[in-house]
Formats: sequence, structure tokens, C-alpha cells
Amino acid sequence: MTLILVTGGTGDLGSKLVERFVAKGETVRVLSRRAPPTEATTEWAQGDMETGAGLGEAVKGADVVVHAATGGGTRAKADAPGARNLVEACKEAATPHFFYISIVGIERIPLGYYKAKLECERLIETCGVPWSNLRATQFHALMDGFLRMFSRVPLVLPIPKSFKFQPIETGEVADRMVEDAAKGPVGRLPDIGGPEVLTFGEIAKTWQEARGKTRPIVNVPLMGAVAKGFKEGYNCTPEHAEGKITWREWLDGNYSRRMGSE
Ligand SMILES: NC(=O)c1ccc[n+]([C@@H]2O[C@H](COP(=O)([O-])OP(=O)(O)OC[C@H]3O[C@@H](n4cnc5c(N)ncnc54)[C@H](OP(=O)(O)O)[C@@H]3O)[C@@H](O)[C@H]2O)c1
Repeated sequence: MTLILVTGGTGDLGSKLVERFVAKGETVRVLSRRAPPTEATTEWAQGDMETGAGLGEAVKGADVVVHAATGGGTRAKADAPGARNLVEACKEAATPHFFYISIVGIERIPLGYYKAKLECERLIETCGVPWSNLRATQFHALMDGFLRMFSRVPLVLPIPKSFKFQPIETGEVADRMVEDAAKGPVGRLPDIGGPEVLTFGEIAKTWQEARGKTRPIVNVPLMGAVAKGFKEGYNCTPEHAEGKITWREWLDGNYSRRMGSE
């Protein structure tokens, strides 16, 4: 039996990884800053990649360290130092396989968060711990989160309509990672993307339909290298459209249940 440490095991991707590894019969340990829940169904390591606290204990005996923790856009600058701390602990413990999850197109879009992801990739590739790295496109839940954020503005829904995305269901990324984890450290894996490339305008229109909303979707014209990258769809990988669940299907699954409760 394999012991798998999932950093970020409480997050969107991490929780789906944990479910799948457990279902496969693996022993799973979650790394989280939080105390273990009373009903924890896995091993639990309380620690913080940013300070390094608890990482040595967390990685001890792990056959695979799946690194899905992130400070996100708001703590992007913590991700590379955090990855360094984790990798140092893995070196010390002679971890056989460090598996990172990254994002498609990060070297072509100079967003702060993507620069941090790129720094993490470089660090992992050169650290001496055997590694794999899978790049995925944006998760459906992230698109939903963006649209909720933009809809805080009253009356209209202001977005950069021509940005392109290829949203994917997080569980499908987790399925692929569980499959790839079993292959051992293979370096850079083929990218994974959702089933269709859509403009943000199309994504917002379907989102509003699923939620029974009719606000005018107003274009926010954005300039610069980051905007160009998203308009060109550098964050998409149509040649790796491996995901099956469409944005519309995800919305139907998530909002038809909730309609009336919002
Ligand atoms: N979201 C997307 O669209 C997308 C697309 C492609 C790739 N990815 C990548 O997939 C990974 C997971 O993304 P996600 O959206 O699932 O993330 P998420 O839901 O925001 O979860 C982030 C996790 O990181 C943990 N965390 C944050 N800071 C930490 C720290 N200092 N020490 C230890 N744990 C920490 C949190 O755990 P606690 O709060 O329990 O400590 C949380 O479980 C990231 O690397 C992301 O870049 C995401």
C-alpha cells in the first residue's frame, strides 16, 4: 500500500484527490494549517508550507507528495518559498515522488500568480527530488468564483468578454492525477484541459442563464501583456481537451440543485 501526502487536501482539487486516493485503497495523509476535524477519515498533518512548520513530520514515510496547496492569487508570493520548504523536507526524507499541479500557459501570461507558479516549477525541476508536473486549465469552480466576484457590482456584470478559457471539472483533473501518480516520477506530463474553449462572454451568459439572471454583460476593455495572453487563449490547450464535463453541465449540476436557495 502506498502512503500519499496531499498538501492542500482541504481545497477544491485536494479534497477530490483525497476522495479518489482513499477510494483506490491508498493511505492518505492531508497537510493543512488547520487542526484535524474530529471525524477525519485520513491521516492528518498540521503544518504550514510558508513557515515550514510541521513539514518534516508531514512528509515522513510518504511514497508520493502531491503538492496541491497554494496561497492563491492573494498569497501568490508565498507559493515559491512554500514549495522550497516542502521540497527541502522531501529531500531530507528522500521522498521518491513529488507531484506538482500547475497551470497551462504560465510562461506566456505575466500574471503575478503565474510567475509564482513558474518559479515553483523551476524549483521542483531542479531540486533533485524525482518529480512529475501536470498543467491544467482553469477549474469550473474558479470561473464560478470569478463571476460571483464580478457580480458584486450592482446592475451589470462587467467582465473582459473576449478573454478565453477552457474550464475543466476539478474531479477530472483529480482522476488524471491519481492515474499519473501511479506511473512514478516522469517529469512534465501532457497538459489537461476542459472539453471546450469559450470566451468569458459566453461563460458569463451561460452562468447567468443557469442562475436565472438577466443582467447586461458589459465588456471591460483591458490592455497589456496579461490581457493579450488571455485574449489569445495562451491559457488554453485545445489539443488536450481531455475533460468531458462541459461548463453548461457543471452549472446544471451545481445550480439546478441550489436554485431558489439564493
Ligand atoms: N483553481 C484552478 O482553476 C486551477 C487550475 C489549474 C491548476 N490549479 C492549481 O491546483 C492547485 C490547487 O488549487 P485549488 O483551486 O484546488 O486550491 P484551493 O481550493 O484554493 O485550496 C488551497 C489549499 O492550500 C492550502 N494552503 C494554503 N496556504 C497554505 C500554507 N501556507 N500551508 C499549507 N497549506 C496551505 C489550503 O489548506 P488549509 O486552509 O486547510 O491550510 C487549501 O486546502 C494549485 O496549485 C493551483 O495553482 C488550479
